[in-house]
Amino acid sequence: MSTVVRPLTESDLPEARRIVGAAFGTFLGAPDPETFWADRDYVFGRFGAEHVASYGAELDGELVGSNFATKWGSVGFFGPLTIRPDRQARGIGKSLVAAVSDRFDAWGTRHAGLFTFAHSALHLALYQKFGFHARFLTAIMTAPARPGTDDMPSSRYSGLPQSERPAVESACRELTEELYGGLDLSGEIRTVAARGLGDTLLLWDGAGGASRLAGFAICHWGPASEAGEGCCFVKFGAARTGPGGEDRFASRGSQCTGRTSRATAGLGCTSSTTGVRRPTRAALPNEPGDTRT
Ligand SMILES: CC(C)(COP(=O)(O)OP(=O)(O)OC[C@H]1O[C@@H](n2cnc3c(N)ncnc32)[C@H](O)[C@@H]1OP(=O)(O)O)[C@@H](O)C(=O)NCCC(=O)NCCS
Repeated sequence: MSTVVRPLTESDLPEARRIVGAAFGTFLGAPDPETFWADRDYVFGRFGAEHVASYGAELDGELVGSNFATKWGSVGFFGPLTIRPDRQARGIGKSLVAAVSDRFDAWGTRHAGLFTFAHSALHLALYQKFGFHARFLTAIMTAPARPGTDDMPSSRYSGLPQSERPAVESACRELTEELYGGLDLSGEIRTVAARGLGDTLLLWDGAGGASRLAGFAICHWGPASEAGEGCCFVKFGAARTGPGGEDRFASRGSQCTGRTSRATAGLGCTSSTTGVRRPTRAALPNEPGDTRT
């Protein structure tokens, strides 16, 4: 029978999550792929979110893979894309990349990207078939958390009353607009707070009524999120550009690591670093988009 690609449903989620762990565990050579990434989630936190479209691939009536398209305003990315290990190399992965590519077209996405494995000819060839070009080597780095310096006033999105949240989302949008036209993280910020996946850290220049948003970081933490047990994962971070931008970006990082025992972040990096896995970020069209350092 041929593969059917369809929207993912709620009843698919446990099996989709199992396939994500088994597919990555098998690819990365984990001793027990069935328990790989048991302490984190990439499926339940995305499914049904206001800015995410979720797809499943079915073969002979069984779910055999899934993929997720995420909309950050004019910018889109997809993943995790996973196919059940015993059903790989039959064109199912391609059909799920086709589904998210169609979704980006329907959304009017101007810049689309994904993270993948720089060392894998399979992955690079698969995505090139859809026009994605390898761009940045991105070191996914982990550090033990230290007490934050708190050198800038900060607040958390989830601590704000509902009435103040739209203004903060607008301030975040104005900041990201400077990085890439139309880049908008509002849906991500709201989803992380509404689903208890973590929180958005807000940094401010100045105090009281004269304060201005200097930067923000959307963080996941804990086992129900993409961070995993005992870890904070900075999913997106940005600081206002212009004079002092580097300090604002550093302060954003130090305040994130001061709030957990272990912190993980992906940093755009062109130098070769040993000892870390280096996935690569592929982008369409071939321009920096939302990834700036
Ligand atoms: C990556 C993954 C999703 C691919 O799914 P799949 O169903 O096996 O892939 P498909 O069969 O649809 O397509 C693979 C394509 O790559 C090609 N390919 C495979 N190995 C290749 C190689 N070494 N060099 C060049 N092309 C290669 C295949 O020929 C095929 O293209 P074709 O059908 O046009 O010939 C799947 O292997 C998987 O789940 N891996 C583990 C999780 C993972 O890595 N996810 C992606 C993270 S970015």
